[in-house]
Amino acid sequence: MQRHTLTGSHRSHMKHATTGLALPRGTLVHRALSNIGEIGLGRWLFETWRRRVVLPLISWPHRPMKGSELLIAELTGQRGLEIGGPSRFFRNGAQLPLYPVLSGLDNCNFSSDTVWEGALQEGVFSLDNRVVGHQYICEATEVSERLHDRRYDFVISSNCLEHVANPLKAVEAWLSVLRAEGRLIVVVPNKASNFDRLRSVTSFEHLKLDYRRDVGEDDRTHFDEVLECTDLRLTSKRAVGGIAEFRKMVMQNARLRCVHHHVFSAKLLCKIAEHFGLVDIQVTNVGTDFVLVARTANN
Ligand SMILES: C[S@@+](CC[C@H](N)C(=O)[O-])C[C@H]1O[C@@H](n2cnc3c(N)ncnc32)[C@H](O)[C@@H]1O
Repeated sequence: MQRHTLTGSHRSHMKHATTGLALPRGTLVHRALSNIGEIGLGRWLFETWRRRVVLPLISWPHRPMKGSELLIAELTGQRGLEIGGPSRFFRNGAQLPLYPVLSGLDNCNFSSDTVWEGALQEGVFSLDNRVVGHQYICEATEVSERLHDRRYDFVISSNCLEHVANPLKAVEAWLSVLRAEGRLIVVVPNKASNFDRLRSVTSFEHLKLDYRRDVGEDDRTHFDEVLECTDLRLTSKRAVGGIAEFRKMVMQNARLRCVHHHVFSAKLLCKIAEHFGLVDIQVTNVGTDFVLVARTANN
C-alpha cells in the first residue's frame, strides 16, 4: 500500500484509479479507496472492523494484569533471563511492567538476524538505552547447555513459545537456569484473537511426543495444518502477503521461525506447569494473550 503524507494546501488532487473521482491525495477517503481497490471491499471492511473495533476492545486498555502489583514487588531488584525479548508486555505502562524494576536482564534469541529484531549481536543487551545484561544468540531449547552455570531469579518469555517446535524441551531448559523458588512467566497468544483461530489447540500428548522424539526447529509436522487453517485475513498483509508468499515463508521456517508450531490454551499451559512440578501456578487471559505465572519448588 502506498502511503501519502501530503497535507493541507500542499495536497494535490488526483483521479482515483478505482472510482475515477478527483480526490485530494492523502485524505482518508483517498486512502480507503486505494485500499479497497487493492484488496477488495469485503476484505477492507473486515480489516477495518478488526482494526478499529475488535483489537481495541480486546487489548484496551493495556492495564496491568491482575496480580501484577504483587509480582512486580516480588521481582523488583531481581535478575532474570528473557527468551525472544524484548517485549511490549513487560514495558512501562504495559500489562506486566517488569523492565523498569529489574536489576538485570539477559536476553536470548535464536539468530543474529530475525524477522522481528533485525540484526542482533551477541554481547551487550540494552533496554531503552540502559545496559541491563547480555544478549545471547542461542536457541530457546539450548539455554541449559549455553547458560548451565547461571541461576536466574526469573525467566520470562512473551509470544515466543508458540514458535518453538519442541516446547517441553524449551521449558525444561528455561527451568534449568532458574533458582529454587524462581519465577517462570510465559505469555502466549490466545488463538481467538489471531490468525490461529481456526486451528485446534495442541494436545499435551503431542507435546510429549515432540519431546520424546527430540523434535528440532526443522520440524514440518504442522505445515499442512498451518497452510490450510491460518486465517490470512488476520495476518498483516504487509508482512505476509498472499497465500503464495505465505507458503514460501512457511517452507523457510527453519530460518525465519514465523510459523506457530503449536496453539496453546490456558489448560495446556497449566498442564505444562504441572508436568514440571511447578507450584503457585496461575494462568490468566490478559487481552489477546494467556499468561502463565508459576514458581519452581524450594528444593
Ligand atoms: C513473535 S516475536 C515476539 C517478540 C516479543 N517477545 C514480543 O512479545 O513482542 C518472537 C520472538 O521469539 C524469537 N524466537 C523465535 N523462536 C525462537 C527460538 N527457537 N529460540 C529463541 N528465540 C526464538 C524471535 O526471533 C522473536 O524475537
